[in-house]
Amino acid sequence: MATAASKPRGRLVGVGVGPGDPELVTRQALRVLAESDRVVAPSSAVDAVGRAEAIVRQASPELRMERLVFDMTADGAQGGRGAREASHRAAAHALLPWLDDGEQVAFVTLGDPNIYSTFSSLTAAVRCLRPAMDIGTVPGIMAFQALAAEAGAVLLDGTESLALVTALDGPEALEAAIADPTRAIVVYKGGRHVPEIAASLSRAGRLDGALMGELLGLPGERIGPLAQLSTGPATYLATVIVPPRARGGPGRAAREWRGLGAGPGGRPIEGEDG
Ligand SMILES: C[S@@+](CC[C@H](N)C(=O)[O-])C[C@H]1O[C@@H](n2cnc3c(N)ncnc32)[C@H](O)[C@@H]1O
Repeated sequence: MATAASKPRGRLVGVGVGPGDPELVTRQALRVLAESDRVVAPSSAVDAVGRAEAIVRQASPELRMERLVFDMTADGAQGGRGAREASHRAAAHALLPWLDDGEQVAFVTLGDPNIYSTFSSLTAAVRCLRPAMDIGTVPGIMAFQALAAEAGAVLLDGTESLALVTALDGPEALEAAIADPTRAIVVYKGGRHVPEIAASLSRAGRLDGALMGELLGLPGERIGPLAQLSTGPATYLATVIVPPRARGGPGRAAREWRGLGAGPGGRPIEGEDG
């Protein structure tokens, strides 16, 4: 009979798979996925392929994945929070038999699992049921890093600092960061409010050099100066990066990014005006 001491110990690992390009899935992520007893991917419905699953399918086509359905209702929507928390609890219960059986279960997630990820809500729900559960993460490349790389932009230099803010409910959360000219700003979850975000930056003299990347590495990708791409709302998967204003003159990043214009399909045309 298995005693508590001899019982196998399960492990839950959140694996960051980057923003979209399968080449940005790290070797460590692929190794951990291959070594895991089970790989699960978040999805909005059992018959819907989630973003993270789609990335892993391209990076490692032979890997078998199972879907865990999550409520994706937005924060502000009526009943959104309650529905999401209930789906986190349901997902934790679904994982429990495997974890209690001693399996290593990998959970794939967009970008990095420790930054605004469903994984942290899932681990909280798992810990409510099994406080001593062994839980770990594998870091992933984040959307703003991919955007800076695509743009060939230095986001931070010297003693500059970075504010990573969300704008799900509008551009208000940007105000403190905008007011500090030494800070670079990254805006997540602001797709619906792109025109207002651009207007706030413009009022503060910080629109020049700001860039937007939407659906990075995914079908429908658009990358370009925010000033050009802010004529209407974008999807939820949109990231804005703003260089510090205090670099002198128009700012190094602004000069470096000036070569990036949105092409007909939204793709950059390098050297368009530079
Ligand atoms: C719930 S957060 C997930 C963040 C993710 N864990 C990370 O480390 O990048 C979702 C936000 O990440 C950003 N994001 C994630 N993937 C993206 C992509 N492929 N293209 C553009 N933005 C993306 C967007 O700002 C989006 O609203």
